[in-house]
Amino acid sequence: MKVAILGGSGKTGRAVGAALAQAGVATRPLGRAAFDDLPAALAGADAVHVIAPNLHPDEPAYVATVLAAATGVGVGRVSYHSVASPYVPAMPHHLGKAESEDLVRRSGLDWTILQPCAYLQNLLPGLRTGTLDVPYSVDTLFGMVDLRDVAAATAAVLTGAGHVGATYELGGPALVSVADVAAAAGTTARRIPAGADVHPWLRAMFDYYDAHGLPTGGVPLAALLGRRPASVADVLARELPAGRCCQP
Ligand SMILES: NC(=O)c1ccc[n+]([C@@H]2O[C@H](COP(=O)([O-])OP(=O)(O)OC[C@H]3O[C@@H](n4cnc5c(N)ncnc54)[C@H](OP(=O)(O)O)[C@@H]3O)[C@@H](O)[C@H]2O)c1
Repeated sequence: MKVAILGGSGKTGRAVGAALAQAGVATRPLGRAAFDDLPAALAGADAVHVIAPNLHPDEPAYVATVLAAATGVGVGRVSYHSVASPYVPAMPHHLGKAESEDLVRRSGLDWTILQPCAYLQNLLPGLRTGTLDVPYSVDTLFGMVDLRDVAAATAAVLTGAGHVGATYELGGPALVSVADVAAAAGTTARRIPAGADVHPWLRAMFDYYDAHGLPTGGVPLAALLGRRPASVADVLARELPAGRCCQP
């Protein structure tokens, strides 16, 4: 089996590529240059996994381009990397993924949609310096998830049977706040103001997180992995020295 990974050179794409390789699948990681001749880049693949760049100004157009090219060269299987709670009118980049999901479902291809919550990995740079500052409440709840588990679930849906026509919400094993993650690493988290030049879509996301967090269920991920997904403690133990942040 050969899987082309759009966005394959990015953080998510590299993790997905590693998980597919571990499952014995040949991968074709593709970055922005693939769009110079997308049909040629996709030709001969059995499946395409679609990851859009962060804050793409028109994600539905990006996804539509990929779906048309895949259809044109006979790639019959597609999986789409969406986000938890895509239909949130207050978050424009989530809405772009909701609209893209609709395109995927109506593409005529054999599709699966993955809706991951925020990755625990997003917090590691702050934890490594001992300063976990975020521009939203440190107390609202998220189904924060290990990116490696998201990647392993992606490999599972592309290599296993029964996932065509499925949409899976991918949260970690428990709802946690940023303060909980900081405490697990032996430090504290602070809420700071968003910078003046922050992208308006990110500002909208911070406002939403502030009020509602991003709670996301963990049952589908455990089912796809066939094991308990990594907890905060598991990820910290793996990624930080002795599982603790670097603060004295
Ligand atoms: N971070 C999270 O917690 C989280 C959670 C759920 C969903 N997501 C979603 O995951 C997706 C990927 O995030 P990421 O952090 O993995 O991204 P990333 O590391 O920034 O990678 C972006 C990828 O997109 C490609 N790319 C950049 N600009 C492009 C363009 N104009 N046209 C075509 N391709 C382009 C890059 O290729 P080059 O190497 O050629 O630049 C790279 O392969 C986003 O859609 C995000 O919303 C993230």
